[in-house]
Amino acid sequence: MREGQATAIHRADYTAPAYWIDTVELTFDLDPAKTRVLNKMRLRRNTEVAAQALRLDGEELNLARVLVNGQGTSFKMDGNQLVLENLPEGPDAFDLEIFTTCNPAKNTKLMGLYVSNDSFFTQCEAEGFRRITYFLDRPDVMASYTVTLRADKAKYPVLLSNGNLVEQGELEEGRHFAKWVDPHKKPCYLFALVAGKLVAREQRIRSRAGHDHLLQVFVRPGDLDKTEHAMNSLMASVAWDEARFGLPLDLERFMIVATSDFNMGAMENKGLNIFNTKYVLANQATATDADFSNIESVVGHEYFHNWTGNRVTCQDWFQLSLKEGLTVFRDQEFSQDLAGSPSARAVKRIEDVRVLRTAQFPEDAGPMAHPVRPDSYIEINNFYTVTIYEKGAEVVRMMQTLVGREGFAKGMKLYFERHDGQAVTCDAFAQAIADANPGSELAQRLPQFKHWYSQAGTPRVQAIGRYDAEAHTYTLTLSQHCAPTPGQALKEPFVIPLNLGLLDTQGRELPLQLAHWPQAETGTRTFVLSQPSETLTFINVDSAPVPSLLRDFSAPVVLDYAYSDDELLTLLAHDSDAFNRWEAGQRLALARAIKAITAAEAPGTEVLDDAYLRAMRQVLADPHLDAAFKELVLTLPSETYLAEQLDVVDPQRIHAVREAMREQLARALQADWQQAWEVNRDTGGYRPDPESSGKRALAGLALTMLCLAARHSGDTVWPGKALQRFKDAGNMTDRFNALSALVISGHELAVPALARFHALFKNEALVIDKWFSLQAGAPDRGGNVLGAVRQLMGHPDFNLRNPNRARSVIFSYCSANPGAFHRSDAAGYVFWADRVIELDAINPQVAARLARALDRWKKLAEPYRSAAREAIARVASKAELSNDVREVVTRALAD
Ligand code: PHE
Ligand code: ZN
Repeated sequence: MREGQATAIHRADYTAPAYWIDTVELTFDLDPAKTRVLNKMRLRRNTEVAAQALRLDGEELNLARVLVNGQGTSFKMDGNQLVLENLPEGPDAFDLEIFTTCNPAKNTKLMGLYVSNDSFFTQCEAEGFRRITYFLDRPDVMASYTVTLRADKAKYPVLLSNGNLVEQGELEEGRHFAKWVDPHKKPCYLFALVAGKLVAREQRIRSRAGHDHLLQVFVRPGDLDKTEHAMNSLMASVAWDEARFGLPLDLERFMIVATSDFNMGAMENKGLNIFNTKYVLANQATATDADFSNIESVVGHEYFHNWTGNRVTCQDWFQLSLKEGLTVFRDQEFSQDLAGSPSARAVKRIEDVRVLRTAQFPEDAGPMAHPVRPDSYIEINNFYTVTIYEKGAEVVRMMQTLVGREGFAKGMKLYFERHDGQAVTCDAFAQAIADANPGSELAQRLPQFKHWYSQAGTPRVQAIGRYDAEAHTYTLTLSQHCAPTPGQALKEPFVIPLNLGLLDTQGRELPLQLAHWPQAETGTRTFVLSQPSETLTFINVDSAPVPSLLRDFSAPVVLDYAYSDDELLTLLAHDSDAFNRWEAGQRLALARAIKAITAAEAPGTEVLDDAYLRAMRQVLADPHLDAAFKELVLTLPSETYLAEQLDVVDPQRIHAVREAMREQLARALQADWQQAWEVNRDTGGYRPDPESSGKRALAGLALTMLCLAARHSGDTVWPGKALQRFKDAGNMTDRFNALSALVISGHELAVPALARFHALFKNEALVIDKWFSLQAGAPDRGGNVLGAVRQLMGHPDFNLRNPNRARSVIFSYCSANPGAFHRSDAAGYVFWADRVIELDAINPQVAARLARALDRWKKLAEPYRSAAREAIARVASKAELSNDVREVVTRALAD
């Protein structure tokens, strides 16, 4: 499939470009089967590097003509590169004109220019622009763009590109044109065009500084009633970035366009963000609370890239986390600030940490482990990872913790003063934050802090506490260790900010005083662990304390502390830090799960003891706790998270134990679940705010638990109630939760409910995705799910070419349903290998993500381990494999 050899690219090999491209004038004659692209560039040699040929990147292009200063010129091809050796010498600028054609209708990779639902879209990050024209396709080449689009007016009434619309008009034969000028220089990965039958929700806003802007959200006709939330999120994003970081919108017009064929979530093209419909379209009838909150995050994320990514961009793709880690941090802070109350902020933090620990920690411990700033890659698309994004965000968060919130804002200001308009490295960012805060722990330890950028792997922090009743001292010994990762055997110690507090056994916060402090302090304090091992000695401690460690999850580490049940129960009931209250509950559940999983005998129905059940009952009944928080505490650690805590993983055993725990929790707390349902079931008129969505979440969990309990007792009342709720719910959250309760409990009423759901929403693609996903992710009962998945793939609505649809069935099964996927007959793995190969021929990026479902195969117990290895080897043995999939399976098989 690829002629190109899979060779690794190394960060250390970076050299500045041999040419600069100052201006680009692009003219498109849009046609699905054959689009003509005229690319007129003004280039000049970079006099700081040795004179050399110009090598332009191109992929799947038909080259028609090359002109230098208006004259024909000699050129040659070297693999995918167009090489020009006889360019004018000297520093003066010259014109280069390249005429190519491409075939957007045949573009199933969804990179470059492609057609989706009869409209044209582009995706250029990371290396898609080379599929549109020959170019220096690298982020450190920044140019000014003028773009003219020409197309049939009836078929493509809307013609969009980056920047400002400067001219439009009619052409012959029913065609028309639009000319766009982007006032900002940009790297080509931020280029975008859209053409098609679209309609827009519009909003005019005035900034704090008094500038007027036009905001637009473009969707297909018929979807306008699902754009209000995206627009509100966009307005909130503009206001937030100005208020929190002093960063204004720098464009007259800011556009969002939704497409249903998209590899990722969304893309921050300058002034013309292109979004997966999943992160734009929502109304209460079709979208859940989770969808609403994801839309807010992603709209914010792409908007915040306008400064962190676009105004200051990456020197090379190794610096990807410079923009992604920072922008995830910013969208997390945005959502927290919008959430408002301390409890709602904590809920958001818990959700973010849950993602980090269930997706990033496994990545960091597996074959694809890589530093936040990688040193090499084969296919850059494989490095849009949870490590670059979520761990990268944690690294930025630690900086904020070390310099304080105000200090961090000062650092951001300095970063833009220094680097606006530049393509820079992660070092430039860290340096700016440190330089703006000269006295801080970050400034003092910056080189060591940057191990977070260079070393892969999740550090473990071990804490050992000792109370001396006579001396009234409490010593806490903290030590850190990080296991080897591929290519990195030895790790230097990290700089780990550790937020902590001490509680007495009644749960009251104790004043903290280290031996050398003049007086005691109350509340959370940040200690910085930078040595392999350090000891803190607290004085004037009147009773044995319960340590509350790593509050708010102040560093992306695994914390080992031999908590007793009593200590955890104290933290769960009383800690002032909501994150650690939740964490204590998770630790209690985890200990019980691990015990049952590793026990000699098969798990019975009684995995949970009275102490745990009593504690959960108390949480559920506590009038001071928010529903959203209760739902998080009452949700057991996921199977993936449990697997990560074990050296050898038997997925069936984990599944059986977790299901047993869940059913026991359902039965033992039945009366409490009923109460929770009654109290939270009605949230009035729909609003996706934290409080009412928390209530819906808890009511939904309660309903699932009641249906699970009914499964045991044979009672039909609760499944009946769930069906009734499913039928008359006033919003998708309640409706889908009720449907899920029936599916999860395996009740026969699930069958007609699913049929009805499909009939109701057959014209809503995003809802049909949920319908597929729910069934492919259902709990396995006697191995039934794989058969169901195969049937779903034969459903008329299934379409492997649409990434959302492929993910809703295949990924929901292979990546999100371990109890069904890991089968002792290996049929799940066979299915996986077939799909990876099949998808690779269509869309290598999506295939490579699926390929990662077996990343952790080496941890599996037999017979899973050998069967998984065989399946991966079968994929790897294919001669025709994309670089994307090849890199993933090769790393998986390496020792
Ligand atoms: N840069 C996009 C984001 O984080 C992600 C993306 C990468 C989208 C590559 C498409 C392709 O917001
Ligand atoms: Zn991003």
